[in-house]
Amino acid sequence: MKGIILAGGHGTRVHPVTLGVSKQLLPVYDKPMIYYPLSVLMLAGITDIQIISAPDQLPAFRRLLGDGSPLGIRLSYARQDTPRGLADAFLISAEHIGDDSVALALGDNVFHGAGFAGVLQEATRQVKGCVLFGHPVRDPERYGVGEVDEHGNLVAIEEKPASPRTNMAITGLYLYDNDVVDIARGLTPSARGELEITDVNKVYLERGTARLIPLGRGFAWLDTGTHDALMEAGQYVQVLQRRQGVRIACLEEIAWRMGYIGREDCYRLGRQYATSPYGRYIMAISEAG
Ligand code: G1P
Repeated sequence: MKGIILAGGHGTRVHPVTLGVSKQLLPVYDKPMIYYPLSVLMLAGITDIQIISAPDQLPAFRRLLGDGSPLGIRLSYARQDTPRGLADAFLISAEHIGDDSVALALGDNVFHGAGFAGVLQEATRQVKGCVLFGHPVRDPERYGVGEVDEHGNLVAIEEKPASPRTNMAITGLYLYDNDVVDIARGLTPSARGELEITDVNKVYLERGTARLIPLGRGFAWLDTGTHDALMEAGQYVQVLQRRQGVRIACLEEIAWRMGYIGREDCYRLGRQYATSPYGRYIMAISEAG
């Protein structure tokens, strides 16, 4: 399975902080935002990942993450000249996807919860149709919203409905079989001129091949779309990390624990940032084995 991280958009809701830098490069406490969705794909076992962003922002992503080889993964970059909707990602990355299945992670979504890696690895094993992840929220009208029947089957999806029928938001992590490229090619832009991911999901829903995995209330799916949400996501990470002494979305640790790199490689990566607590954490955990 291939991975895509969509890190485009203007981030207008957090202006002026995004006037000079892409939103997905802003810090969520101790690391850039894009580390979080990248960690999700890495935990799913996906190691060939394309990052999509605006042409003027791509150099910064490249500077940050390079070709991925120190982490034992492969990163490539693709440009989105104007934000044309989330489903545009499948047109931009068609070559990267090839004849494989694909996971799309939105560059500003933060996930955290016990057992998530297992859920992801199970879900990505064999994707027929699409797999969506739902999470209950207080303000579903801001998101894609899913409705399931009494057997847990997905029966409806609506994009930002004025009167949501459920509180189950569709999160920014989507798994698709290879049909997604053709489905995206056949989309008509919505009223706001975008290729909507919800329209892609509706095609799978009509085919009877859309699945929704609910992420329960013990799970955190954090928003970074407003100044407050961005701050709160940082505070969430700070509180857990300081209390537990472990780091969320530490790419070097994940690369080592997933077997993409060895323990000594991991230590060396940490040593590069030895003046930062993040680097010292990597050194300490790889030393401890
Ligand atoms: C997009 C999708 C929406 C989804 C959300 C998750 O909304 O259109 O269905 O629930 O991402 O973050 P956007 O953030 O682009 O408004």
